[in-house]
Amino acid sequence: MTAAADHLILCVSQPSLSGCDEGRLLAALHRAGRSVFAGPVTALRLEGPGLGLAAALRQARDGGARRVRVQPVGFPLAANILAWLPGAVAHFAATEAGDMAVDLADPPEPEEAATALAPLLAGSRSRDARTLRPALGKPGWQYPPDFDTHILVCTGPRCAFLGSGTLQARLKARLAETGLADRCLVTATGCLFPCNQGPVLAVYPRGLWFRIPDEAALDRILSDVVAAGGHAPDLALSGRPGRRRVRTLSASATGSFS
Ligand code: FES
Repeated sequence: MTAAADHLILCVSQPSLSGCDEGRLLAALHRAGRSVFAGPVTALRLEGPGLGLAAALRQARDGGARRVRVQPVGFPLAANILAWLPGAVAHFAATEAGDMAVDLADPPEPEEAATALAPLLAGSRSRDARTLRPALGKPGWQYPPDFDTHILVCTGPRCAFLGSGTLQARLKARLAETGLADRCLVTATGCLFPCNQGPVLAVYPRGLWFRIPDEAALDRILSDVVAAGGHAPDLALSGRPGRRRVRTLSASATGSFS
């Protein structure tokens, strides 16, 4: 471990994790970090609504850290995350770190999973599957919910780095406050591709895509686009110049595409 690091940030990548499980995972990671590292430890998930990596780096910087170690955790960490993470950390180091040094540690090798597996096999209980109730679904999972607007919110790692977690929490709160929650189905997604302009949100069935740089922008999307049925052109993301639009499925009886 880098001797001079005085703050440790543990980063786990797990796109599909409930809030409850995220809390347990991060608490366990934090405890593990504290057991091997003398200074402050931050545990975070690279996706989702919690504390993002950029925010954690700012917290460390503002807390007086002189050198922070960013430690990816996972067996294995997804290749796309490992390809993106160095650039994101370097971007923060170049633009926001100030006097704080930032080290990016290697992720664990897949073979190291064996070390973690041994105590698990030795200590955990197991249950005969025939003692459990078979069920592939719940009664409420039979029909699509009633809604007229589908909002896709990117919770991918790059949008999370740019603050989508805070916006996602605000989106839910504002939908409830404004009475729009019953009309809108909100789906958190993985990467939707225009990461460079993140955080990204899409509104369907109108097929409108937006960048959400701050909370004011989110409020405008809800009031002007979702509630009033209008548009917010200055926040809209359009297709790549010169690229033909993705073809849409025709409703014609021939079943052909148009
Ligand atoms: S991570 Fe959000 S668009 Fe890629």
